[in-house]
Amino acid sequence: MSALAAIRMGIRIKTLSPTASGPVANIGEACIGDWNDPLVMAEFAKDCDVITVESEWAPAEIAEQVASSNTQVWPSSATLRTIRHKGRQKKALQDAGIAVPSYTCCSSFAEAEQAWLDYGQKVVAKKFEGSYDGYGNATVRSMAELKQAWADLAADDGLLIESFVPFKRELAVMVAISESGDFVVYPVVDTEQQNHRCHAVTVPAPISTRTHQEAVDMAVASARAVSMVGMLGVELFELENGELFVNELAPRPHNTGHYTIEACHTSQFENHIRSVLNLPLGDPSLQVSAAVMINVLGKRSGPVQTDGLKQALAVSGAAVHIYGKKDVREHRKMGHVTVTSSDVETARALAEQAAGHIHL
Ligand SMILES: Nc1ncnc2c1ncn2[C@@H]1O[C@H](COP(=O)(O)OP(=O)(O)OP(=O)(O)O)[C@@H](O)[C@H]1O
Ligand SMILES: [Mg+2]
Repeated sequence: MSALAAIRMGIRIKTLSPTASGPVANIGEACIGDWNDPLVMAEFAKDCDVITVESEWAPAEIAEQVASSNTQVWPSSATLRTIRHKGRQKKALQDAGIAVPSYTCCSSFAEAEQAWLDYGQKVVAKKFEGSYDGYGNATVRSMAELKQAWADLAADDGLLIESFVPFKRELAVMVAISESGDFVVYPVVDTEQQNHRCHAVTVPAPISTRTHQEAVDMAVASARAVSMVGMLGVELFELENGELFVNELAPRPHNTGHYTIEACHTSQFENHIRSVLNLPLGDPSLQVSAAVMINVLGKRSGPVQTDGLKQALAVSGAAVHIYGKKDVREHRKMGHVTVTSSDVETARALAEQAAGHIHL
């Protein structure tokens, strides 16, 4: 989606993927190669002015080796290194004075047990690196669950233990920020997870003006705390009393910003491209009253076959996005539907209806 936004502005793009997974197959020059191989990366980088990544797991250090006065890499490898490790990420936010849930980086099981006791015997255990869509997290309420979480999730440097946050709502904010320091902030969205996975995104979020401003301020402070260049997704928890905590950061266009394609003057993908190229940033504001995005997840495992597209497209105003992934797994994010409307209730009903028709 970033590549499509770039192509529309006449910017030449090419992509490097470790395997022929599908989505970029027909876009620009799609190179397949082992991105951990410095020679592959050097060859790929030869005619690039700017390299960016759409995954925090891309080998930033190797990309950085090819960075020179002719080729920039954004976000920088330092930013990616900080964000991809949940312990380092939380510390960077905390050091910048940004509120995060109480947490402990536990290097031994004894430390994990102590943290579990300190946080009232209800915690979320999180793998330091490599988790997404809730894979890599476990809610822990008993000693048996703590032992299981340690066995399943602890790495050589241990495990993150975080106090369980009894949030009222989950929010997200997208920030686009350039090397020059210019930035734009998208409207705060309400996000709903099912089984630790994002199901629905609603904008505008049903929050007070004060909470909106605080969320925006925390998002901008987070971008600065990790020296971000590009698009940053900031996930937040809102408590009953309106207090906010940053949950986590994503150094890329984010699932909770997909609605911007149809609902905002400039999409998160276009502003990602603009920010890494240090071009003027586009207007992030809504051009509609309300929008809802519903994720479309895989229903089974195997090669992709999409059913129900006709019925989904027959729903008035439904913008259907299917990512073109070659293989489907149960619960894998395969696409999404966005509906814009004059009110969130109408947008929600139509988006759920259209997404419900699609089976992959
Ligand atoms: N400390 C916490 N207290 C309560 N719920 C939590 C906590 N941490 C995470 N969760 C729940 O689990 C979801 C996923 O957690 P998190 O964002 O840390 O995981 P992830 O796998 O990296 O996420 P993503 O789905 O964004 O890729 C959160 O959106 C929230 O619903
Ligand atoms: Mg998350």
